[in-house]
Amino acid sequence: MIFENSKEFAQSLDAKDELRKYREEFIFPKVNGKQVIYFTGNSLGLQPKRTKTYVDEVMSDWANLAVEGHFYADKPWWDYHERFALPLSEIVGAKPSEITVMNTLTVNLHLLMVSFYRPTTKKFKIICEEKAFPSDQYMFQSQVDFHSKTVGFNPKEAIVEIKRREGEHNIRLEDILSKIEEVGEELALVLIGGVNYYTGQVFDMKTITEAGHKQGAYVGWDLAHAAGNVKLHLNDWKVDFAAWCSYKYMNSGPGNASGCFVHEMHHNDTELPRFAGWWGHNKERRFKMEPQFDPVRGADGWQISNLPILSLAPYLASVEMFAEVGMDKLIAKRNLITAYLEFILHEIDKEIDGTEFEIITPSNQEERACQLSVFLHGQGRALFEYLMKNGVITDWREPNVIRLAPAPFYCSFEDMYEFGQILKKGILGK
Ligand SMILES: Cc1ncc(COP(=O)(O)O)c(C=O)c1O
Repeated sequence: MIFENSKEFAQSLDAKDELRKYREEFIFPKVNGKQVIYFTGNSLGLQPKRTKTYVDEVMSDWANLAVEGHFYADKPWWDYHERFALPLSEIVGAKPSEITVMNTLTVNLHLLMVSFYRPTTKKFKIICEEKAFPSDQYMFQSQVDFHSKTVGFNPKEAIVEIKRREGEHNIRLEDILSKIEEVGEELALVLIGGVNYYTGQVFDMKTITEAGHKQGAYVGWDLAHAAGNVKLHLNDWKVDFAAWCSYKYMNSGPGNASGCFVHEMHHNDTELPRFAGWWGHNKERRFKMEPQFDPVRGADGWQISNLPILSLAPYLASVEMFAEVGMDKLIAKRNLITAYLEFILHEIDKEIDGTEFEIITPSNQEERACQLSVFLHGQGRALFEYLMKNGVITDWREPNVIRLAPAPFYCSFEDMYEFGQILKKGILGK
């Protein structure tokens, strides 16, 4: 498609947008009395209007039924999490039995590492990406420290980061694959962010998973920036495990519950160590209060505690919206709106001196999703603050990057055009 940098053209794209009506379903904050242009759906998605109904329902069931709500609420609480299995399995390309919802993301990755990071003196290395999300880095280090003392391997050798090449912003697939081969039999686990939080680069999860398995390692994915954003086929790719948060593209609200995937090939392996709790126990026998743990044969077998229903209610509102629309339509709009945003940025760049900023996200559509990370060579933080004051919500990452995520559920093409105009004014000061 040939794009134009004009309000009329942007409006014509909005008029053809199949997801247009969903914009009205979200609540936008206002700056100076005007609805903001919201680019931080990759950090915290906007609140869908229907969420309140889901939360109110739980509040009123609690008021009217109290403890009886566990079994007699319209959506009983004791198996409330099972409502997520089907819609989430469609979002991440899994079987319903491979999905569960519990805790929060880093907690779940730790719990899954209990099962899937089982180092020995000969096989103890973890491959991750350079500058992984800090929480993942702390997690790797603490897992390595935890095991190294008892198992007896050198903790300093255990974490192998895949580096970017000098002068490049993104990691090359060939470098990941050659590192996996180089580490070889010492490789215990590959655990990478499916979409890099900083650059927005999407990794080839299928190929990397295969390569990890070839070395006899487990392969897991941190899907914080991928769930609800990227087409995933976790079952087909034979990914061992994955987890994601729900408050970014999935619009479930701050700090909300995390989704987990455990491949069906591990469901009957009762020898896999795990940290157990009563919610992972055989569903039919859970309330018999027996002493011997008998895990559910599915991802639910990794559950520990009874679930925070008030927190799951907004997540349920969200997954039901995803089920209505489907990932294919979201991805089609995501591709178009991200390409339009990229075009707008290039147009503004041409209108100014061309040295103010640089898009560091891959330009190839296969390697990116709903995010453009923009390195600001000029004003940096001052420009970010200018945008915020003028109703454009982006986020700032050191040393000089703003991330722009035009979430397809609620961002409009006109937003992209308006953003370009505000950006130009911010740079030129007029
Ligand atoms: C890639 C990635 N991993 C992990 C986390 C940590 O998530 P949580 O605080 O829910 O554990 C985040 C949070 O933004 C993230 O972006």
